[in-house]
Amino acid sequence: MDKLIIKGGISLKGEIRIAGAKNSALPILAATLLTQETIQICNLPHLFDITTMLELLGCMGVQPIIDEKLNVEVDSSTIKHFSAPYELVKTMRASILVLGPLLTRYGQAEVALPGGCAIGSRPVNLHISALQAMGADIVVEDGYIKASVKGKLNGAHIFMDLVTVTGTENVMMAACLAEGQTVIENAAREPEVVDLANCLVKMGADISGQGTDTIIINGVKDLHGCSYSVMPDRIETGTYLIAAAATRGHIKLKDTRPDILESLLSKLEQVGAEIKLGDNWIELNMHGKRPQAVSLRTAPYPAFPTDMQAQFTALNSVAAGTGSITETVFENRFMHVHEMNRMGALIKVEGNTVIVQGVDALKGAPVMATDLRASASLIIAGLVSENETSVDRIYHIDRGYECIEEKLQLLGAQIRRVPS
Ligand code: EPU
Repeated sequence: MDKLIIKGGISLKGEIRIAGAKNSALPILAATLLTQETIQICNLPHLFDITTMLELLGCMGVQPIIDEKLNVEVDSSTIKHFSAPYELVKTMRASILVLGPLLTRYGQAEVALPGGCAIGSRPVNLHISALQAMGADIVVEDGYIKASVKGKLNGAHIFMDLVTVTGTENVMMAACLAEGQTVIENAAREPEVVDLANCLVKMGADISGQGTDTIIINGVKDLHGCSYSVMPDRIETGTYLIAAAATRGHIKLKDTRPDILESLLSKLEQVGAEIKLGDNWIELNMHGKRPQAVSLRTAPYPAFPTDMQAQFTALNSVAAGTGSITETVFENRFMHVHEMNRMGALIKVEGNTVIVQGVDALKGAPVMATDLRASASLIIAGLVSENETSVDRIYHIDRGYECIEEKLQLLGAQIRRVPS
């Protein structure tokens, strides 16, 4: 197992390119199961989670091909098994995304029931009840969700009790080949849901309302092949912007999308950053100033994303003043706080809120990553520390950040990967 060694105290400066979005690439890979024809996916990020999804397709008998430009082509006509085994689901919960496509196209699916994880209990009851409303027979037995339908799924009017990103995606994919119309109310409005919908439309699906809280899908007989380029990763973008603001730096991020980052950009302006935008780039300049603490509350899009909460906590930990951060999406997403306090941060947890009193600088320490975004926040904490920090268990970071140490090195950071 590797760890990262970071020598802090350097302001990030320079330009890097942002990768394709993990959380839209994963459902798009699952969507390739909806057609016999070949789907070419471009701008796939090089991440461990993407490898896991390709492995999952492989164990169903589908062999993705990587071409000379590192695009992936998936022809799912060779599928032999309709199940996602526990060995893969336990390493990546997003494996649940094959449930809707398998059920609607092949009438059967078995997916290991994901357990709780480091950020909360994360049930999938809403995925199951929506598919049942569309006519699926589903039992949860021996740790597996076993689903089947005689003939086709039927369109249905579905109200999601909670906004769920992968729940909306699963139902939207299932509805593409169902009989008649499906309406998803209280649907997730996340840009990754829109990206998936746009890919499905390119495959011949009849979808409208993506990006609003009501998505309407009219089932079609078949979907066909296409080539689709995954949108840029807004969480990777946000992580580098927060790291630059925390280190009083000046960076430019290329191949990204400012239009889907408004909640973060307005908070970074409150922190004191000067921000310039183009169609596909963002430049942030702190002019060497210490950030001001700000308060925020996470919620589904377009509000501040839970996936950037930990990183912003690291920024507030060295900001001037006190900021409070409230987490409303997951019940247990503060594991990073205890590690940051070991580095000299002054953070108190009160229910689902953390109160962060900024200190001048953190002090490097050995720390341990507990999940993907917590790992990113500990790297930011290392970058604003006076001496050396080692971040252990960084397999979490490789799940969701492409070449993170190379990109940070390009921005001037002193960071290296060593075996533990
Ligand atoms: N929920 C239920 N029942 C369900 C589904 C969700 O109670 O059937 C609850 C969850 O426990 C949670 C809330 O609803 O409290 C929202 O969860 P959601 O279903 O939206 O999360 P997800 O689809 O499992 C995706 C991202 C996460 C991101 C969340 C929230 C993917 C592959 N994952 O997860 O990304 O945090 O949406 O935006 O898209 C990450 O990239 O690090 C990550 C965790």
